[in-house]
Amino acid sequence: MSGRPVPTLVGRSIRLRPPGPADLPKLFDWYNDPETVAPFDRFSLDSFSDFERGVQAAPGDSQSLAPRLVVERIQDAGVLGFVGYYSAHPVLEFLDVWYVLGDRAARGKGYGVEAVGLLVDYLFHAFEVERVGATCDIENVPSYRLLERLGFRKEGSLRQALFHHGAWHDVAIYGVTRPEWAARARTP
Ligand SMILES: CC(C)(COP(=O)(O)OP(=O)(O)OC[C@H]1O[C@@H](n2cnc3c(N)ncnc32)[C@H](O)[C@@H]1OP(=O)(O)O)[C@@H](O)C(=O)NCCC(=O)NCCS
Repeated sequence: MSGRPVPTLVGRSIRLRPPGPADLPKLFDWYNDPETVAPFDRFSLDSFSDFERGVQAAPGDSQSLAPRLVVERIQDAGVLGFVGYYSAHPVLEFLDVWYVLGDRAARGKGYGVEAVGLLVDYLFHAFEVERVGATCDIENVPSYRLLERLGFRKEGSLRQALFHHGAWHDVAIYGVTRPEWAARARTP
């Protein structure tokens, strides 16, 4: 599966757009801030130049974990967070999504559901995959509720698969298939 540039995706109250040079310092701060992803994920301490190179290379690399799209509020162009996707398995063909609202004041207002919904729509449109997935710490309630709200089903869990904050954690596996997504889109 090859990577590709993602166009701007416009929703009701937010748009997803490719990051520009002016976005990178803010994204870098969020990406490297344990408070932004805490308490449910590992965070990395990249150098800014490595981060910049990763973001620039992401469109051509389906396995890239770099942010691919900025979540921007339409009303005031406020940058709220970022999302990405990656080809998660060396043999099996599906894509996993991930999502972070770095602006913590913007959480709990539905922006996460809207952003990930736009991304999943795009992925089923742009790629020949039959499943889009996501994984999260089994205790990350906002993350798995977001997925369930969008119609993802819990398919299982991986025990002790994620190391963060000095301990191993179990991870929930979620997925939605193309027919399930299409049926959801037809529901008023
Ligand atoms: C996960 C995240 C993107 C969710 O975005 P959000 O905009 O806050 O979520 P939404 O407002 O769209 O709500 C999604 C669902 O989560 C629920 N939710 C949101 N915040 C919650 C909280 N603090 N506690 C419990 N449930 C919560 C909402 O009620 C909603 O579920 P519902 O429709 O069944 O009521 C955001 O919390 C975040 O950035 N967290 C840190 C990064 C992270 O953990 N990313 C996921 C890594 S796998």
